[in-house]
Amino acid sequence: MDEHIAALRRDGFAWIRGGLGDAQSALEAAHELISARCAAHGDGLPVVVGDFVLPPLDGPPTRDFQTLHFDFGVPLDPRVPKDLGRWTALHVCSGASPVTAATRLVPLRGLLSQRDWPPREELLDRLSSYGRTHGAWDDTLGYVEGSLARLVEAATGEAALPSVKTEPGFLCGMEFHNLRAEAAFFERHSVPLDGVEVEIGLRPGDLLIFDNLSHAHGRRGTRCPGELRQWVFGDRELNVARQVAAREEVVSAFDRRCVDRTVGPGAEAASVP
Ligand SMILES: [Fe+2]
Repeated sequence: MDEHIAALRRDGFAWIRGGLGDAQSALEAAHELISARCAAHGDGLPVVVGDFVLPPLDGPPTRDFQTLHFDFGVPLDPRVPKDLGRWTALHVCSGASPVTAATRLVPLRGLLSQRDWPPREELLDRLSSYGRTHGAWDDTLGYVEGSLARLVEAATGEAALPSVKTEPGFLCGMEFHNLRAEAAFFERHSVPLDGVEVEIGLRPGDLLIFDNLSHAHGRRGTRCPGELRQWVFGDRELNVARQVAAREEVVSAFDRRCVDRTVGPGAEAASVP
């Protein structure tokens, strides 16, 4: 287990290959790993805020990909207490029908370090402004963003994706028709996925745990009903101040290439460790 704890700390994700045939043993392993990771950081122990069978047993198979996203979303402009997902655990039970899909992980720092970004205050302005036009249906409840593409678009200040706020019936997560269209979006914004995205093909008995705030995740391929068990570990009814702290973790991923325009064009502010 030590190697997986080290991987979680070093890489932001840990992949336990095989040996966890049933959901109970996988959940216990996830608890153990996340507890050790949080204890090492002096963080409180998160609780399970989401427990899902995916896709649902009584539903159809999934479509052949899933856009990059954050479970429970990132609180970009928090106003009221909300649940927050900090860690996601994915498990495939032994006996699951042949699994062909792969989970896609994209580390935010690696992705965002490929281009320059505005200074922090301007960045925060852009994020909350995007939320007012493209985000929450009810602004008094704040703005939580689940889509990596929308986070990037908000940060660029060039809103082009359909607004879930003003286009009735449009669902977040349906921004792209296929993986090529999603990849082209990130390429267009000078943050290509190539060389950054990691694909993990979970097999029966495998468990994957990743940091849901430092990594966006999605899927390549189709999953059959009941194929995956997903637990989201985090905080229930997190207060606004602690949601702001969580947002800062995410926003800090832009810092490495923030341009400090107060000291001249092209100058870079010091990166946050
Ligand atoms: Fe997810």
